[in-house]
Parts: sequence; C-alpha cells; structure tokens
Amino acid sequence: MFSILGTGKAVPDYVMTNDELSTMVETNDEWIRTRTGIEERRICKSETITELTVKAANAALENAGVAPEELDLIICSTMRGENLTPSQACVIQKEIGASCPAFDVNAACSGFIYALDIAAGYYARKKVKKVLIVSMDNLSNITDWTDRSTCVLFGDGGGAAVLGEGDDLLAINLTAEGNDTVLRIPHGTNSSPFYEHEEEKAVLFMAGNEVYKFAVNAMATQIKKSVEDAGLTLDDVDCVIPHQANIRIINTAAKNLAIPREKFFCNVQHYGNTSSGSVPIALDEAARSGLLKKGDIIAMCAFGGGLTTGSCVIRWSKD
Ligand code: UT7
Repeated sequence: MFSILGTGKAVPDYVMTNDELSTMVETNDEWIRTRTGIEERRICKSETITELTVKAANAALENAGVAPEELDLIICSTMRGENLTPSQACVIQKEIGASCPAFDVNAACSGFIYALDIAAGYYARKKVKKVLIVSMDNLSNITDWTDRSTCVLFGDGGGAAVLGEGDDLLAINLTAEGNDTVLRIPHGTNSSPFYEHEEEKAVLFMAGNEVYKFAVNAMATQIKKSVEDAGLTLDDVDCVIPHQANIRIINTAAKNLAIPREKFFCNVQHYGNTSSGSVPIALDEAARSGLLKKGDIIAMCAFGGGLTTGSCVIRWSKD
C-alpha cells in the first residue's frame, strides 16, 4: 500500500476577522467564538484556486523530495476547480510539469480521505509508485455573504500530500448517504435556452443543526470503526486529525470516544471550515510543527456534503 512522504498547504493572504464579519451581517465575535471556535479565516482576493493548488502541490513535493516527473497519478479533491473541464488535477499537472493521469473527485469536506482511498486502490493494483493528492476548496465564491448562519463558518485554502510505496495505511472507511436537503450548493448557471427549470443561485445552503447532529455521531462512529479495523484500540491513537468545522464537534467527539482532547489537532480558530482543504492543512501543520513523531498512530476523520464521511488510520513514518 502507501506511506505519506510529504505534505504541504496553501492559504490566501487575506485574514478576515470576526469583527470584520460583524460589519457585514448581524453577528459578533463572541457568538462566533463560543458557538464555533473560529476567530478568523483566510479569504481569496487576488489568489486563484489554481495558484493555491499549485502552491500546496509544490510544497508537498518539496517536503517529500519527489520530482513532478516521478508522479504516476494526481488526484485533486475539490467541489469547484478553476474550470468544469479541464479538471483541476490536469491544471495542476500542467503547472507543475508532471505527465501522469490526473482527475478530480468531489466528496465535499471528506474529499481528502476519499482521494486517499482511491489511491489505495491504485497501490493495491500496483499501478502507481508516487501519487500526489491536492485537496482545495474556495468556498468564499459560493458563500451567501448575507446569511449570518453560514458565512461566518467557512474559509478558503487547502493542502496536499505525496504518497509513496509503504505499509502505513492501516484502515480506511468511506460512507455516503444521499441527502441533498441539509447541505447543498447548486451549480448556478445553465446556458441552455431549452431548459424549463428555474436557475438557482450558486450559494451554499445548510441546515446547521442537522449537519451538527450528523457530524457529532459520524466523528465518533467512524474513528472507532477505522481504529477497530486497524486492529488497534482507541488508547493506541497518538493523534487525531479531525475535520475542522466547529470546535464543539471536536470536543464532543473527544468526549464520546474518551480520547484525551489534547490528542486532537485543532486549527479551526485560524481557518474556519475549508471543506476538503481542512484535514490536509491540519495534517501539514501537525507534521511541520513537530507534533507527529515517527511511528505515531494517526486517526483522520472528515464529514460533509453528500452527506459523506471518510476516516482512516495511518502510521506516521516520516522522520
Ligand atoms: O463541513 C460540514 C459542514 N458543516 C458543519 O459542520 C456545520 C455543523 N453545524 C454547526 O456547526 C452549528 O449548528 C452552527 C455553528 C452552524 C450553528 O450553531 P448552533 O449552536 O446550532 O446555533 P443555532 O443554529 O441553533 O442558532 C442559535 C441562535 C439563533 O437565534 P435564535 O433563533 O435562538 O434567536 C440564530 O439565529 O443563534 C443565531 N445565529 C447567530 N447569531 C449571531 C445564527 N448565526 C448567528 C451568527 N451570529 N452568525
């Protein structure tokens, strides 16, 4: 199977504080902090998703010591790349100078774990040696900036990982339950003069409370399942990299699993929810801060639109 050889991240420069949001919608720093844990988020102004995905990809390649020409596959998880076609993965391929198959996957916030699972299949079939995964969303361009119940939650950015042959993937699980009512972002454009349905605006709709209930249950259930599948116990987990959507979801998962809270890596205060970018940004920051030690057992878990979940357990074998 595979090992993670290197990681990278890229976020836009602009830092939007809770106070700035309070000038746009009826909200305040105290509500956002206590209900979500978010203090600020990054928002794209001059940066394009192409610039950010390429930056994250190059950072991961450099960290892994892998040249673009060595790559056998590029997977980009995103809800909305620069174009409908070519895929964002093909755009990344061109920009970094790789020459392997490349495609996108959309599993909303669970995209990074979905991409890892797809890569695992390629390794099982012995089709690849080096794989690049880039997970990036640019939610600010589909956020309803007049809706205080959602616009305070999200931010832009993403991360990347380079995989090589190894045996560090100990378990991985994906789920999906077709649900287009609690979390949905319509396409927003239809140029056909023949189409008879009304065009919907491309903005994010979310029934926060419903997603919250789903998320709290999913975090605990899916982490437990992957740890059991790996033949381990929850005590064996050294670090949890959870989807960064709301600090209360992370705190509740820690309590429900009886895993010490300090084992959960958390950076939601700085980035908000960056969708599929969230887990790989957190993984990169945990790795580069020296928190992850060689031999550590890491559980990762994400949930989001679909409704999807992805969880996995890996051994960290990087020095
Ligand atoms: O990646 C997956 C995506 N999504 C998620 O993970 C989101 C999961 N859900 C959540 O994190 C939480 O449900 C939210 C943070 C979205 C909402 O927190 P909550 O504690 O469930 O608040 P609520 O929706 O029950 O709203 C409580 C009150 C309401 O006022 P009333 O009806 O009690 O008077 C809201 O209108 O807070 C009000 N409210 C706000 N007040 C100030 C909602 N948004 C805001 C706001 N500022 N931004």
